[in-house]
Amino acid sequence: MKVVYRLVKKDDFNGLLELYDSLSPDDIFYRFMSFHKISPEEISFLINDKNHVTIVAEIDGKVVGEASLFGDGEIAVVVHPQYRNRGIGTTLVKSLIDLGKSLGMTTFKFFTLPDNIPMIKIGRKLGFDIKIKEDEVVAVLRLDERS
Ligand SMILES: CC(C)(COP(=O)(O)OP(=O)(O)OC[C@H]1O[C@@H](n2cnc3c(N)ncnc32)[C@H](O)[C@@H]1OP(=O)(O)O)[C@@H](O)C(=O)NCCC(=O)NCCS
Repeated sequence: MKVVYRLVKKDDFNGLLELYDSLSPDDIFYRFMSFHKISPEEISFLINDKNHVTIVAEIDGKVVGEASLFGDGEIAVVVHPQYRNRGIGTTLVKSLIDLGKSLGMTTFKFFTLPDNIPMIKIGRKLGFDIKIKEDEVVAVLRLDERS
């Protein structure tokens, strides 16, 4: 199973829509920190907004994951439920950090809930400082500017 990681492109609209259709309400909450159905405008934002970068994971032409990095260093990621636990989420986040580093960014962060074990594991593995509060996890990675 070859996974391709690449920047999002305009014709990913339908692939992203299918990816988001595969998600449970809880998955959507973890990704956006709110319950809602993803609108076509939000998909267009992922593709067209100039103030963030989005990477997708693709298997045989199917979009199976998406991760975005915003100007303030915040990272958000999602992987299709049928393709989880194979390292795709970890590679997406690692790729975004590498991309951010190449753009001169030195601080990365993500927010999630305390029961999101896979995301907490990803953060720990990649060196984030993780603070678990009662109802929120705040994860921050500060890189030495020379590293
Ligand atoms: C979080 C998410 C992106 C992880 O994607 P993934 O492709 O499964 O991640 P990985 O395969 O790289 O797994 C990361 C770690 O979690 C573990 N893991 C994966 N699924 C797991 C599960 N259901 N239960 C326990 N551990 C699990 C993996 O074994 C791995 O652990 P390791 O580092 O010790 O090997 C995915 O679960 C998801 O899309 N969740 C909904 C959206 C979300 O929570 N986004 C985060 C918002 S910041």
